[in-house]
Amino acid sequence: MGSLLELIKQRRSTRTFENTPMLGKLCHDVHQIVHKDNIGPFKTPISIKFIDRQEYIKQNRNMGTYGLVKGIRNCIVGILDERSSKGMIDYGYIIQKKIIQFIQLDLGTCWMGGSFNRSEFKEALNISDSKFIPAIIPIGKTHSKSLLERALCSLVRSKTRKPFDSLFFKNNMDTPITDIQAHDLYIPLEMVRWAPSVDNSQPWRIILKDNCAHFFMKKIQPLESSIVHIDLNMIDMGIAMSHFEMGCNEVHRFGNWKEQDPNFDLDPKYKYIISWNFF
Ligand SMILES: Cc1cc2nc3c(=O)[nH]c(=O)nc-3n(C[C@H](O)[C@H](O)[C@H](O)COP(=O)(O)O)c2cc1C
Repeated sequence: MGSLLELIKQRRSTRTFENTPMLGKLCHDVHQIVHKDNIGPFKTPISIKFIDRQEYIKQNRNMGTYGLVKGIRNCIVGILDERSSKGMIDYGYIIQKKIIQFIQLDLGTCWMGGSFNRSEFKEALNISDSKFIPAIIPIGKTHSKSLLERALCSLVRSKTRKPFDSLFFKNNMDTPITDIQAHDLYIPLEMVRWAPSVDNSQPWRIILKDNCAHFFMKKIQPLESSIVHIDLNMIDMGIAMSHFEMGCNEVHRFGNWKEQDPNFDLDPKYKYIISWNFF
């Protein structure tokens, strides 16, 4: 197994799974990962389940996924007590750390925030109306790609990412940094750059200043008015934070998360999220 950065660069969403049950040690290992480390930077209570979709379908309880992702047998489903931005960030952060561990078990995953029937999942899992499922994550052995999947990947240009110096800055948003100028933060930032995001929108921007990395979310046009889209971009921010933290730990740039808005004079399309304070 290569470095964490290599693993993250090689990860791709799986949209065609082998529709087979997960058994034995593999199933045990997945359960262990699912039930461990379920606290995010904002400490939102999140309950996370690992389900076999077939069990529910056998009982005539539908769990629709609109056919975009094929062969879904097992899924990770997390539930928030209520819908909130901080809850969505914690959700992305917690689950992406699990996804990285699943890849190490040679399992494929796909974040699904749009292409599943929320009300059917809630009903099948007996979840009360006030609670919210931000996204589901099918998990399993990867099957070779279907034609539909190939078309979808090229539509969202899933293999590409924005250039380093359009995402990361020093002191303000007018001074981009290159991978060489990032020095020992190259690995954590490159891990953010390769994170998955809804429609590959890559909303994260990071400004390095003093002893902090300040995280901002770029509100994406023209879907800015879409509440669901903004919510899902909050999951993206949590995913990016988890990659950054794992990268910082790799290069021994330890720190912690704090909300301390530096109050930069920025275009309102950039929303402050949180800062990583280096020790
Ligand atoms: C929060 C979130 C929600 C997503 N929702 C969907 C979805 O509903 N359906 C889907 O096919 N892919 C979905 N994706 C996968 C993205 O399209 C994919 O991560 C992105 O295009 C980059 O491709 P990659 O994961 O292969 O690197 C979602 C990703 C994220 C992070």
